[in-house]
Amino acid sequence: MLVHVPGVLTPDEVALCRARLEAGEWIDGRATAGPQAARAKHNLQIPEDSATARELGDLILRALGRSPLFNAAALPLRVLPPLFNRYDVGMGFRNHVDGAVRAIPGLNMRMRADVSTTLFLTAPEEYDGGELVIKDTFGHHAVKLPAGDMIVYPATSLHRVEPITRGSRWSAFFWSQSMVKDDGQRALLFDLDQGITGVRGRLTDDDPAAVALTSCYHNLLRRWAEL
Ligand code: NI
Repeated sequence: MLVHVPGVLTPDEVALCRARLEAGEWIDGRATAGPQAARAKHNLQIPEDSATARELGDLILRALGRSPLFNAAALPLRVLPPLFNRYDVGMGFRNHVDGAVRAIPGLNMRMRADVSTTLFLTAPEEYDGGELVIKDTFGHHAVKLPAGDMIVYPATSLHRVEPITRGSRWSAFFWSQSMVKDDGQRALLFDLDQGITGVRGRLTDDDPAAVALTSCYHNLLRRWAEL
């Protein structure tokens, strides 16, 4: 399940991120990749323990808190601090699957990466190439979104970033451990949530059909959630 979350950051927040990243220190992205990914990966990243990454990461985490769509799609239990990457001309990231288990910085803890998210910080017209191509059971999907928009997809997916042929592509990316590990169960809950949201405007809150659907949602979540 791929979910497009529009307008996570306001244009002012995107501009602030861009200004900070412009002044930031960029290092080789292979610093955070495992051995297989390191061979596939060619990009630049902001060091994860830098003041820039922390400030902008906090800004994004606050923005996620105001996004019902992200929360419905990811059902997050834990969200790793966002990282920031950049692809200049000739850079890309060949097919890979993201690592399953990641250390939580500053805590002696690890978490499972169930959901991957990319938040675009450059507009599609600023670069050519650079599509995030995600494979799911229905084929390959090429994703290139407006600045401030986000794509949420299962961390189990094979994906790549096409080489850049003009301009530069900047983004934030992060992983979430979901309360519901299984992609299929999570997708079903998301569909039910969106259906309930859709009928809510047409039914009163205490309409028996609205109560029945909402009860099903919570009871399925109770059955499947792991905390
Ligand atoms: Ni990846």
